[in-house]
Amino acid sequence: MRTMKAVCIYSYGGPEVLVYEDAPRPHPDAGEVLVRVHAAGINPVDWKIREGHLKEMLHHTLPLVLGWDVSGVVEALGSGVTRLKVGDEVFSRPDIARDGAYAEFIVIRESEAALKPKSIDHLHAAALPLAGLTAWQSLFDAGGLSAGQRVLIHAAAGGVGHLAVQLARWKGAHVIGTASARNHDFLRKLGVDQVVDYATVRFEEAVAPVDVVFDTLGGAIQERSWKVLKRGGILVSVVSPPSAERATAHGVRQAFVFIQPNAARLAEIATLVDGEKLKAIVETILPLSDATRGQELSERGHTRGKIVLRVI
Ligand SMILES: NC(=O)c1ccc[n+]([C@@H]2O[C@H](COP(=O)([O-])OP(=O)(O)OC[C@H]3O[C@@H](n4cnc5c(N)ncnc54)[C@H](OP(=O)(O)O)[C@@H]3O)[C@@H](O)[C@H]2O)c1
Repeated sequence: MRTMKAVCIYSYGGPEVLVYEDAPRPHPDAGEVLVRVHAAGINPVDWKIREGHLKEMLHHTLPLVLGWDVSGVVEALGSGVTRLKVGDEVFSRPDIARDGAYAEFIVIRESEAALKPKSIDHLHAAALPLAGLTAWQSLFDAGGLSAGQRVLIHAAAGGVGHLAVQLARWKGAHVIGTASARNHDFLRKLGVDQVVDYATVRFEEAVAPVDVVFDTLGGAIQERSWKVLKRGGILVSVVSPPSAERATAHGVRQAFVFIQPNAARLAEIATLVDGEKLKAIVETILPLSDATRGQELSERGHTRGKIVLRVI
C-alpha cells in the first residue's frame, strides 16, 4: 500500500487529537482526480469539525483528514475525466463530507476543481477557494449586492472578510468594515470606505443604513445588525440562520449561506486574481506537520487574512 503524510483525527476533541502520520494514499474513482497537494488553507470549519460541532450534519467516518482548501497539481485521473489533465495546476474547495487536504494527496471531484490563478503561487491559491466562494455566494448569490449599494462587512480583516471587501469593491459597492484598530490601515488599503472599530464604537450608531449586512460573527453582532439595514435590505449570515420573524418585524430580508463547491465560480475568482482585482493575504505559513499550531492560531479568532500549510 502506498502511503502519504497526512494530519488526521481519530476522535473529536481539542488540538491534541490531531495526528501527523503515514496514511493510505487515496485513488481517484470515476469523475475524480488525484491531486498532489502543494498547500492547504486553514479555516475555522477545520477546528469546528475537529471539535465535533458538525458531526450531526456531516456524518464523517473517522479517521478523517481535515482541511478543505487546496492548491496543487493533478497527479492522476479517474475514468471519465475530460476537462482536467495530469500536470494541471488546480485549486479547490472540495466536498467537506470527505477527506480533506492536510495531506500530500487528495482526491477531488473534477466538478469541484478549477485551474489555479497563474499569477500567484500555491500558498496564496490555497487561501482562496473556501473563503472566496463563501464571500461570493453571500454577497452576490444570496445578497444580490450591486453597484452603488452599501454593504456592512463584519470581521472585514478575516479570511472571508478581506476577500468580501475586495469583491464588493470590484462590484462597485460602498464598503463599510468592522475590525480592531490594528487592522484599520490594512482595510483602508484593501479599499474599505468606512472602517469601524468594534472595540470602541457601536457600529449601529456609526453606520448609515445599508443594503446588505454580511454577518461572519453571529450572536449579538447579528442581532444588532437588523438596525443598520435599509427597508427591504438583507442580512446574510454564514454563522447562524437569522430569524425570519425578526426580519419581517424590521421590514428586511434574511439568508443563511453554507458554501457550495463550484468550479465555474472558482474560475471567475482566478480571472479576478490574475486581473489584479482580488488578492489573498496570507498572514502565516506553517509546514503540514505544524497543523496543530495553525488551528490554535485560527481558533484565537484574530487572523488577518489567512493561515496556510505548506505541503511541498
Ligand atoms: N457557512 C459557511 O459556509 C461558512 C464559510 C466560511 C466561513 N464561515 C464562518 O464564518 C466565520 C468567519 O470565518 P473567517 O475564516 O473569516 O474567520 P477568521 O479569519 O478567523 O476571522 C478572524 C477575523 O475576525 C475579526 N474579529 C474577531 N472578532 C470581531 C468582532 N467582534 N468584530 C469584528 N471583527 C472581529 C478579527 O479582526 P480583529 O483581529 O481586528 O479583531 C479577524 O480579522 C467563522 O465562524 C467560519 O466558521 C462559514
